[in-house]
Amino acid sequence: MDYRHVPVMVKEVIELLRPGAHKRYLDGTLGGGGHAAEVLNHSGPDGQVLGLDWDEEALAAAGERLNAFGERLVARRANFTEAKEILHDIGWDRVHGVLLDLGLSSRHIESGERGFSFQLTARLDMRMDRRQTFDAYRLVNTYPVSDLRRILSDYGEEPAARRIALAIDAARKRKPVETTAELAGLVARVVGKRRGGIHPATRTFQALRIAVNRELENLESFLHDAYELLLPGGRMVVISFHSLEDRLVKTAFRRWSKDCLCPPKTLFCRCGWNRKARLLTPRPLRPSREEIQANPRARPAKLRAVERV
Ligand SMILES: C[S@@+](CC[C@H](N)C(=O)[O-])C[C@H]1O[C@@H](n2cnc3c(N)ncnc32)[C@H](O)[C@@H]1O
Repeated sequence: MDYRHVPVMVKEVIELLRPGAHKRYLDGTLGGGGHAAEVLNHSGPDGQVLGLDWDEEALAAAGERLNAFGERLVARRANFTEAKEILHDIGWDRVHGVLLDLGLSSRHIESGERGFSFQLTARLDMRMDRRQTFDAYRLVNTYPVSDLRRILSDYGEEPAARRIALAIDAARKRKPVETTAELAGLVARVVGKRRGGIHPATRTFQALRIAVNRELENLESFLHDAYELLLPGGRMVVISFHSLEDRLVKTAFRRWSKDCLCPPKTLFCRCGWNRKARLLTPRPLRPSREEIQANPRARPAKLRAVERV
């Protein structure tokens, strides 16, 4: 299988995770296995990685790429929100490091049939986990106008959300909107040319993809208590690709690093919270200019990391 995803910010990930022998890691977004390969290379001869991905094509590609590491890789098809149960099932419970590299892989974007790209004509799909029945076709053709508008506005930060939602509704009353090309054409007619050369349908496609895959809900649910997955001194690195994801990561990491969650000016602490983690990146790290030049898809990446106390 041709799986050409180039892993982003590898040097930074390895510097922060500091993989080593006799240690165990969780890669919650295994993808093509690029980051996992580096973690395994740096944790020889016996470091191990549990790799999760909900996309069967990603798992197959990672299995092929990481074959040489034998039993040092344990791969499972799963949502990363299930990490705690899976770690428990395989008898690891807690790990020395956790990595999430969010979003799409290049494979998703480049694959003709998955329906993620407005540049390739395909049925409206956008599911990363194809066991799921809900897809972009259902969303676009059945959601009430008010929900469509909210999704486009909240997840795509699309200024023309209302006009696009109304245009979708008018179109689907004549016949269902079936393909990426139909939707991209419809949005382009509503929005016209965008400044800065971005395609007029970029924001719409991002919004639908986030909604179909429940990306923010999954991330929020994972981040609720993910510090519990780490051994003391263990580190977590999260790479996000848009501001909505980054905000969730920033908020969770800040919360974990606080001594108390009581409202400001409370005289006596009543929350019972104590600090879970130390911030390793008070500001997010960004890819270097050289990396962006070599791999333009790295451009929006923001990396944040914490250490369990
Ligand atoms: C950017 S790619 C990861 C690339 C990987 N780090 C590499 O080096 O090849 C993101 C992967 O995470 C997976 N993914 C996204 N959200 C997920 C979730 N909630 N649970 C499991 N996998 C998820 C996607 O299917 C995709 O394969």
